[in-house]
Amino acid sequence: MEPLAQGVAELITEATDTDVCFVHVLDADRGTLTLTGATPPYDTVAGQVTLAVGEGVTGWVAANGQPAVLVDDKRADARYRYIPELQGERYTSMASVPMTSRPGALVGVLNVHTVERRVFGEADVRLLSSIGSLVAGAIVSARLHRTVAEREQARERFAERIVALQEGDRRRLAAEIHDGISQRIVGLAFYLSAAADAVATDAAFAAQQIATARMLADEALDETRVAIAGLRPPVLDDLGLGASIASLGRSVPGLDVDVEVDLEPSALAEHVETAIYRIAQEALQNVTKHAEAEHVSVTLRNTGADTAELRVRDDGCGFALEEGPGAGRVSYGLPGMRERADLIGGSLRVDSRPGAGTTIVVRVPLAQAAAGSSSRE
Ligand SMILES: Nc1ncnc2c1ncn2[C@@H]1O[C@H](COP(=O)(O)OP(=O)(O)OP(=O)(O)O)[C@@H](O)[C@H]1O
Ligand SMILES: [Mg+2]
Repeated sequence: MEPLAQGVAELITEATDTDVCFVHVLDADRGTLTLTGATPPYDTVAGQVTLAVGEGVTGWVAANGQPAVLVDDKRADARYRYIPELQGERYTSMASVPMTSRPGALVGVLNVHTVERRVFGEADVRLLSSIGSLVAGAIVSARLHRTVAEREQARERFAERIVALQEGDRRRLAAEIHDGISQRIVGLAFYLSAAADAVATDAAFAAQQIATARMLADEALDETRVAIAGLRPPVLDDLGLGASIASLGRSVPGLDVDVEVDLEPSALAEHVETAIYRIAQEALQNVTKHAEAEHVSVTLRNTGADTAELRVRDDGCGFALEEGPGAGRVSYGLPGMRERADLIGGSLRVDSRPGAGTTIVVRVPLAQAAAGSSSRE
């Protein structure tokens, strides 16, 4: 935006045969006008001079949508305000016009000043106004371009995160197949070969080998189930989120886990349930791995009309948030939890201090609320 405003400021002084030109751009939300471009030497203060709409001649032009011409003795005009950075004392006459991209759509204000006294006439003001609307159009497209570019970047970041999450799932699956399932199958083949070799000569030994092979087949099957459940927890479909989280709590070995769920079934979209389940799962895994806790409480409930909150609190050793997972290690747990929360439009907070236990809080919009807000957009 600044190079654009800068460039046009110089063109305008030439086109209107004036000495300096100031391009003030409106921030409609704040109700302010910021000097965005100016002819030298004032280009150096671009971005540093901001007026409220209504303030000074520029603010008056913005507020009234009308041009203003001050031929001499600016200070006598009630609208005039002295801005030290712009050295008004050097210039005698000025013309100020609103820049509109279309009627009623104010984008900013364009000012030209002359050292010599000059009576800006109707034709001057008309010329300035048409230049102003050209500049306004350019500013509007520059803004649009920026918005589109920002959206594009946000989409790319989103896609990257999804891919990273999928990658994580794949790595985990690969590890489970490699370390668990294929080991069992290797063993299975080994025992079956031994049984085949022995079947004619030592039936009892062969039977023993087959029994072991049978056990390994059962284990491989169990591990396959676990690996698949890791991808998409079937328990969610079978039991719903509340009962699934309760069952997660029961599956933690050697810990007193207290689960409390108070949430309408179907209050959350399916992918949101999966994310919350995964976050609870990792939080409990962290408690088992790191916390040395005695007691954990997990709550899932409504907070307010349109948000749900998952809270996992342990009374374990806690940790210093700034310290991370330890030297030379990259961890996936907490960053992954945060990403999942982000992806479903929620937020994640970790409260922990050495010696004071750890609390993880996830807040997400409820399904109806989320649907409502997106349809309003
Ligand atoms: N409930 C907890 N109690 C105590 N320390 C915790 C707890 N949760 C996390 N931490 C600390 O924060 C670090 C980061 O956790 P994170 O889940 O990101 O990684 P990790 O569990 O070490 O590894 P990963 O989850 O990738 O297998 C842990 O290494 C641990 O030091
Ligand atoms: Mg972890």
